[in-house]
Amino acid sequence: MSMKNIENNNETYRPLIVAFCCNWCSYAGADLAGNNRLAYPADVKIIRVPCSCRVNPTFILRAFQRGADGVIICGCHPGDCHYTSGNYYTRRRMSLMFSMLDYLGIERERTRVEWVSAAEGAKFAATMNDFCETVAKLGKNKRLEDLRCKQ
Ligand code: FES
Repeated sequence: MSMKNIENNNETYRPLIVAFCCNWCSYAGADLAGNNRLAYPADVKIIRVPCSCRVNPTFILRAFQRGADGVIICGCHPGDCHYTSGNYYTRRRMSLMFSMLDYLGIERERTRVEWVSAAEGAKFAATMNDFCETVAKLGKNKRLEDLRCKQ
């Protein structure tokens, strides 16, 4: 069985992943992964944000509402944030947010915060492959999905 494709009711299921990446480290890490031709699933939709702390928790709710199966936030390593302490806010805020999502029935494995520097293209690709594989095992996310957003 492929890492990113899971046979589900005779259909090939590929999870839709939304990855919020901070401009200064993780987005550059994603760029490096691309430049080094390191493979990660094309189902990962990257959204560039100035800092990981720019990700308002409502963005995550909105992503799930619009059909995302998993949401990952990538930022600079602690101590390396371009805005000094943005990622510390991210860490605290997302810890609460993920607990709330768990309470709502969205499994913890569908959300993740990861620190990826600009020099860690390999880590970025490995993280995305691992996250996609984890989410694929959980199957399609039905919680919070807004049927009006279906194509
Ligand atoms: Fe990267 Fe703040 S600038 S986490």
